[in-house]
Amino acid sequence: MANRRWELPPGIALLMLALLPGGEGARGNEISPEKTLVWGVGLRSEVVLPVRYFFIQAVNTAGENFTLSPGKNPFTVKISSLSSEHLRVHAPAPLDRNDGSYLMRYRLYGSTEEGLKIEILYGEKHVAQSPYILKGPVYHEYCDCPDVDFAHWQASMSCPSEDLQISRDFSVFPHVDLKQMLREVPVRFGPRTGIIHYTILNNKIYRRTLGKYTDFKMFSDEMLLSLTRKVHLPDFEFYLNVGDWPVESRQFNETPGPVPILSWCGSAATRDIVLPTYDVTHSTLETLRGVSNDLLSIQGNTGPAWGSKTDKAFFRGRDSREDRLRLVNISKEHPELLDAGITGYFFFKEKEKDLGKASVIGFFDFFKYKYQVNVDGTVAAYRFPYLMLGNSLILKQESSYYENFYIHLKAGKHYVALREDLSDLIEKIKWAKQNDAKAQTIAREGQVSARELLQPSRLYCYYSMVFQMYAERQTSKPEIRQGMELVQQPTDYSSFCSCHRKNERDEL
Ligand SMILES: *[C@@H]1O[C@H](CO)[C@@H](O)[C@H](O)[C@H]1NC(C)=O
Ligand SMILES: *[C@@H]1O[C@H](CO)[C@@H](O)[C@H](O)[C@H]1NC(C)=O
Repeated sequence: MANRRWELPPGIALLMLALLPGGEGARGNEISPEKTLVWGVGLRSEVVLPVRYFFIQAVNTAGENFTLSPGKNPFTVKISSLSSEHLRVHAPAPLDRNDGSYLMRYRLYGSTEEGLKIEILYGEKHVAQSPYILKGPVYHEYCDCPDVDFAHWQASMSCPSEDLQISRDFSVFPHVDLKQMLREVPVRFGPRTGIIHYTILNNKIYRRTLGKYTDFKMFSDEMLLSLTRKVHLPDFEFYLNVGDWPVESRQFNETPGPVPILSWCGSAATRDIVLPTYDVTHSTLETLRGVSNDLLSIQGNTGPAWGSKTDKAFFRGRDSREDRLRLVNISKEHPELLDAGITGYFFFKEKEKDLGKASVIGFFDFFKYKYQVNVDGTVAAYRFPYLMLGNSLILKQESSYYENFYIHLKAGKHYVALREDLSDLIEKIKWAKQNDAKAQTIAREGQVSARELLQPSRLYCYYSMVFQMYAERQTSKPEIRQGMELVQQPTDYSSFCSCHRKNERDEL
């Protein structure tokens, strides 16, 4: 079979091609280093991210994109400093996304004055415009070197000019009355939830905690520290709810009206302003460091190609919502269509003896199945972004909970919706099995959109856009309030760098 050739090392494949009678078909399966496409923010020095990344799309000699993997690691990437200075770079081999494209990730552990050289090779040959020269200075994640021009920074990140979710969230809040919030928020929300009260002043972070459950401030602290190292934020004062549930249940026609609390999850019944979840945030900050199932590595671990997946729906998870138990019931009645299991009981312990406990399986192995069932947990299921990045079809329970990016995804186009009570689950699985090409198209469209929406640069854009819109609406000056403490940047060797942007500002 023609496919077999792709499993061979490129050198041997080329040799075999040379021996084959030269037909269009044979030449069409050969990678063209000149025609292969390379793009992404990781090729631009000014885009500082915890992990920089870019993409390689394999293109054949006929100018056509590969749509399946052209084989094991055809491309090698070398990243080095332009000068002789020692620079630690963590750069694993490009991730094969199994669709003809590769995702290259690299993490810098130091900054470089001169710049970076990125060489992308196919065998001995340079690919596309390789070598790419990133003119210095190129800063690493922990270098405290904010761009003083907020608009310039957003433009360099290619941030969208607006986001539908942000506009919608703020439409209820033409003004942000800091004095009203200072009076109300600690009393209304403080004791029973976890609210962090932050003030950003002159790009320094101050905060105090309100309420009992505030440990998750570590996630908001790390994001704010990361942002303020990259860009000079406007002065603003806000309240972040670090609990699971959104909290502002007042409607906008009520008196007194709702206040703009920032939360990690939204719901139809509440008016909180959503930010990306702590999980997505932490995953982005710690990619190639402290986490393994992050939003980039998942893209290279999406299981077999569509045609080789088991054509069943799949679910594993904890018992954080009764619907998940119903899923196991349905699975027992239709084992040929659905494999669903609860891996840990906490809320419905008494059900364990009836429903049984399923063994935990690695997340990457979920993608051995064609259809993935997404059912809420306590709130929106935080696995949804990861599932969307895979190449299975997502069957998503309709839900009043949402994360910041859901608004861009449409049922029937990017995933298949399930009734909240799951009563149409079996019908939808049967539909998918009977309409395999359509199901595959939806899976692919969902994946493509998720790749765009969930990329690290977009995360930074989203935070900055929310903060900007909030800051513009404040009706009085933010202040450092009683009980607030400074959240400091790390000062150890990992942050060592010389910042030219700061110098420029000092010289003015
Ligand atoms: C080939 O891949 C690139 C990168 O994903 C894409 O922009 C382009 O539209 C593709 N070309 C075709 C003909 O599909
Ligand atoms: C699961 O099935 C059992 C037995 O038919 C039933 O008693 C139980 O209520 C069902 N549980 C759910 C969550 O539907």
